[in-house]
Amino acid sequence: MGHFVIVGILVILMTVLTYIGLDAVGLATKMHKVVASAQAIPIDQLWHWEVIVISFLFSLIVVPMAYSLVVFRQKKGEMLDGEHMEGNSNLEIAWTVLPLITVVVFAYLGAYSLGEVRRIDPDAMVVNVKAQQFTWTFEYPEYGFFSTELHLPVDRQVVLKMESADVIHSFWVPEFRLKQDVVPGRVTEYRVTPILEGRYKVRCAELCGTSHAYMESAVIVDSPEAYTTWVTEQIKIAAESQTPEGQGKLLATKNGCVGCHSIDGSPLTGPTWFGLFGSTVTLADGSTVTADEAFITESILDPNATIVEGFPSPSVMPPYALTDEEIANLIAYIKTLK
Ligand code: CUA
Repeated sequence: MGHFVIVGILVILMTVLTYIGLDAVGLATKMHKVVASAQAIPIDQLWHWEVIVISFLFSLIVVPMAYSLVVFRQKKGEMLDGEHMEGNSNLEIAWTVLPLITVVVFAYLGAYSLGEVRRIDPDAMVVNVKAQQFTWTFEYPEYGFFSTELHLPVDRQVVLKMESADVIHSFWVPEFRLKQDVVPGRVTEYRVTPILEGRYKVRCAELCGTSHAYMESAVIVDSPEAYTTWVTEQIKIAAESQTPEGQGKLLATKNGCVGCHSIDGSPLTGPTWFGLFGSTVTLADGSTVTADEAFITESILDPNATIVEGFPSPSVMPPYALTDEEIANLIAYIKTLK
């Protein structure tokens, strides 16, 4: 009996130590992390209880094993067989029933959390999301504009209707805790209720190509007032975009061009558009070319025709079958970037 008491105490001690250790590296509790959505709360709670049980199970296996190795070790000169034992019904019933209860309780907790996370608000706002190598584009169908940033009002459920233009991507905002794949050929839904104002980031969580690691966009949770201001601004910008430059800018946002081609000179996946038009571009083969209408048109329709120095060959950009008018609008927009 003495052995059981000692092992019991050691198991409890080890459970506490394991939990403290997991907590120290930020795996156990929600204390170290930002909780930015209503759905994150039941998920964090479930995780918290799971880590406690995981710590206990780990200890329950490791402690008796280590204890037996040390205490019941064969002594020097001891040549006898071990003590003969029949089964122990009580022990067998206990190790069948207790895990069964634990599993049933966690199945209930899991189903309950899933219900909380999937709770549908009929007044949820809709945003259409397009994922493509290697950008995110957000469409606000209520107002008819596109954005490269996802703005959401705080305390209102939003349902993202997500589509992919090419391969499988995955929409992941760590502070929301939820993650959803975006699969070509179907619309997947992501339902979230942001509860904390702030600036976050959506990261692509599915390896989707060479620039997968850079497939990020800003996710901003606004106060209701700030959100209204932003929407009003976007509507105004969309209304003003009747000029060729404006149409080109709209197209660049909608098609995700600006996810890879910066408009301020900063380095992204593709060459920047800032100061591009009329500049002299050095190509991968060392020759130079002037970035005029013909060069830009060719680069859109057939990205592999010429590779700009410092960028991978073959090009990571897919060809875009744009109309002559769309290309003219895009070029008009690029001309304004200087
Ligand atoms: Cu898109 Cu990884």
